[in-house]
Amino acid sequence: MTKPKVFIARPFPGPGIEILKRRYDVTVNPTSRVLSNRQLKRAVEGVNVIVSLLTDHIDAPVMDAAGHNLKLIANYAVGFDNIDLVAAKERDIFVTNTPGTLTEAVAEHTFALVLAVARRLVEADRFVRANKYKQWEPDLMLGMQLRGKTLGIIGLGRIGGTVAQIAQGFGMAVIYSDERRNKALEKEYGVTYHKLETVLAEADIISLHVPLLPTTRHLINEHNLATMKKTAIIVNTARGPVIDESALAQALSQKKLMGAGLDVFEREPHISRRLERLPNVVLTPHIASATTEAREAMSEIVAKNVIAVLEKGKPLNPAG
Ligand code: GLV
Ligand code: GLV
Repeated sequence: MTKPKVFIARPFPGPGIEILKRRYDVTVNPTSRVLSNRQLKRAVEGVNVIVSLLTDHIDAPVMDAAGHNLKLIANYAVGFDNIDLVAAKERDIFVTNTPGTLTEAVAEHTFALVLAVARRLVEADRFVRANKYKQWEPDLMLGMQLRGKTLGIIGLGRIGGTVAQIAQGFGMAVIYSDERRNKALEKEYGVTYHKLETVLAEADIISLHVPLLPTTRHLINEHNLATMKKTAIIVNTARGPVIDESALAQALSQKKLMGAGLDVFEREPHISRRLERLPNVVLTPHIASATTEAREAMSEIVAKNVIAVLEKGKPLNPAG
């Protein structure tokens, strides 16, 4: 019997690739570069499984290039906005993601950004390296205390809930907004539900934890940026297009917000010049899930989903 064919769009850490190589006919894109759409279409011809990364755009033409043997697209990510789910469903192709593997990593990075902006960490580091630290000053680099402040979570899933728990350790009150109110989670995480407008108006720190969907694209726009406190900080570790980035840059440059911590961007890896020039913004290159622990767990879950589909006909973590 010929072994099922698995194409892996780029090498990734953890045990997943080795586990798959022991059972299947695995091809890994040997370069560390994202494949162009043309290269991807050629590479997937005739495979049973595509293991994609969030940088691979898997649309109907890519699925059709793979052909009718394609059974599964296993995404090495929790988010799956890079995959056309409707096209996959029409073709009876399963799509899986890696839920629960990176909850802590993303929640902790969220707080790394919160603290970095609130305590002006990056600005302070640059100041020291530029040899500007001449003497202690009573008013040097004043930032914001977290205890007693209100954190507003937009999207109370696993990550949003874990961010809420960490916030309570800092002595913050936590409010949230979500498409659907969830009273069980409110109890579990000790958070209070409000409408989006109220959360944006009342929070000192706003953190985004929604998936990218047509309904969440530019959820944060010029109109509602104007309703936030002038002293507020916004943090995005979800997906870039959830914020209208040019409206955010405008609000920050006009001092309508204290600052922003951004791990994701509208047109990755492009970073807007306007954001780069602002001192009250901390930028990281989509690394919120980049802990050894998370990346290994993601790797394992990807392999488990491939095995589940190829050997049991049913995915463990269907996306959507
Ligand atoms: C990372 O952004 C992910 O969705 O896994
Ligand atoms: C987030 O949704 C997670 O899976 O932790």
